[in-house]
Amino acid sequence: MKAFMLDKPSYQELLKNYQHLSQFTLLDLFTQDNNRALKYSLKVNGIHLDFSKNNITDKTVEYLVNLAHESSLIEHIQNMFNGCKINNTESRAVLHTALRAIDNLEDRTYLPENSVSDANLVARDLLGDEKKIIVDGKNVIPDIEHVLHKMHKFSSKVHTGEHAGYTGKMFTDLVNIGIGGSDLGPVLVCQALKPYRKGKLNIHFVSSVDGYQILDILSKLNPETTLFIVASKTFTTEETITNAYTARKWFLDNTYNNMEAIKLHFVAASTNTKSVTEFGINAADNMFQFWDFVGGRYSLWSAIGLSIILYIGFNNFKELLAGARAMDEHFLNTHELQNNMPVMLALLGVWYVNFYNYSTHVISPYNTRLTRFPAYIQQLEMESNGKSVDKSGNPISYKTCPVIWGDSGINGQHAYYQLLHQGTSIYPMDIILALSDKYSNKLHNQILQANAIAQAEAFMVGKTHAQAKAELIANGMDDAQADFLAKHKVFVGNRPSNMLILPEISPYYLGNLIALYEHKTFVQGVIWNINSFDQWGVELGKQLARTILADIISGKVSQHDGSTMQIINLCSCVQN
Ligand code: F6P
Repeated sequence: MKAFMLDKPSYQELLKNYQHLSQFTLLDLFTQDNNRALKYSLKVNGIHLDFSKNNITDKTVEYLVNLAHESSLIEHIQNMFNGCKINNTESRAVLHTALRAIDNLEDRTYLPENSVSDANLVARDLLGDEKKIIVDGKNVIPDIEHVLHKMHKFSSKVHTGEHAGYTGKMFTDLVNIGIGGSDLGPVLVCQALKPYRKGKLNIHFVSSVDGYQILDILSKLNPETTLFIVASKTFTTEETITNAYTARKWFLDNTYNNMEAIKLHFVAASTNTKSVTEFGINAADNMFQFWDFVGGRYSLWSAIGLSIILYIGFNNFKELLAGARAMDEHFLNTHELQNNMPVMLALLGVWYVNFYNYSTHVISPYNTRLTRFPAYIQQLEMESNGKSVDKSGNPISYKTCPVIWGDSGINGQHAYYQLLHQGTSIYPMDIILALSDKYSNKLHNQILQANAIAQAEAFMVGKTHAQAKAELIANGMDDAQADFLAKHKVFVGNRPSNMLILPEISPYYLGNLIALYEHKTFVQGVIWNINSFDQWGVELGKQLARTILADIISGKVSQHDGSTMQIINLCSCVQN
């Protein structure tokens, strides 16, 4: 058993600190330190993080920061930004940060495509003044610029009608077919930034292989005015490819088998030119490339963002990239780690998972446009850090990624918050709030804010039996009844939460927010000594599903355990 984190001197200090802190409630800590709210707040690029409602003191912060240093965090961060192959099981660099490292898109994107060359590169490497990020001896920046430029050009043509459907009509509907990282990022951003929509394109997302989803969407569409994006890094993912071929068949069935028209109506975001071409897509014009240094769950900044560009326009996409870049710069350059927002968010998570033994973390956005944010963070954190072996393949002896869950905070209040307030476990939580929302209504936003703030206060402060009883007696209840009922109205309190406050839900702040969680995830991977960039855990089920599908289709059940064979038999009897 490798003990990586457990061997660090700071780990022992943190254990002692945890024991010491168990004598105090969060409220005690506020009483002990008047300056606590200010001291445990960070403001980065306009985003405010108040982490004062956590079970921490200065000593905790000091030891957590030491733990990060003892894990060589700064060196690991630099290695990622530099293009080192930190994804060691796949021998890949991890460079989603390079996708947004180009800081003068303004000038660049209006240049004609063929003028993009090394000679006129003006992109900038975040590590210094120069502009190169080298992977396998090649500067990756020109390719990134080239694809961005190609997406810009394509989206402009769609918006002006220069690229139209096969009958010359402008596209009215866009269908993004993808799953996991090829779906969740575009879904999140398009939902969050709907008010920034450019043009009149309606957007639809197909991710599940449940035929109901795609058939339901297709039944409402006109093939003459529908544009499909097949978004798949590998172009082999069963759900996506099955859906893409179903869409292709629907298209051909409704266009008198017009194969040529596929070239106008289907485009791809992928790394797999061969399979894209076999599908019938014109790869030269309509395939938007990305690279193996972009992980699926980190890919919304790449060609996978094409649906976003078509929906909200290229300028808003640039703002999204600019927001993420601003968070990258903060993350990379803030070496006083107690001031580094992604680092602090990550360390607080480690504190609760590894010392308090809490096994879930709630994401609670108080903004309807961020309703898909918890799902996005689920893939980001759980697919990245849901691991039980370290980078060398040794089993690890401490807990890693917690279960990430959540939904719209205000809806959660009327569903699962009961458990959060009075359940037997404690569920640390990030509450996310916008200061203003010009697309909402002042009063509605004030009510949202009041509820978010009240919940965080209630989680921390709670209510004693005496308080509950006094309230009941004041309302006219007799002593015995009040005594009984008050037992059910106790809130133990002392439940931690972070409050993240965005000035507004705009492309820039959303870019910042997503990058904040990406880097949080990275930091936790470093502390836990795991490779956050592979996902072997998704493979076994896919592999078994291939055999089981053959069993179901053929009706001949191959050897499995008794339960699995019984269920396959049930399915295959109904189908055959
Ligand atoms: O199966 C998991 C996964 O590989 C994710 O990591 C990825 O985001 C998703 O599938 C989709 O993959 P692709 O873009 O290659 O279709």
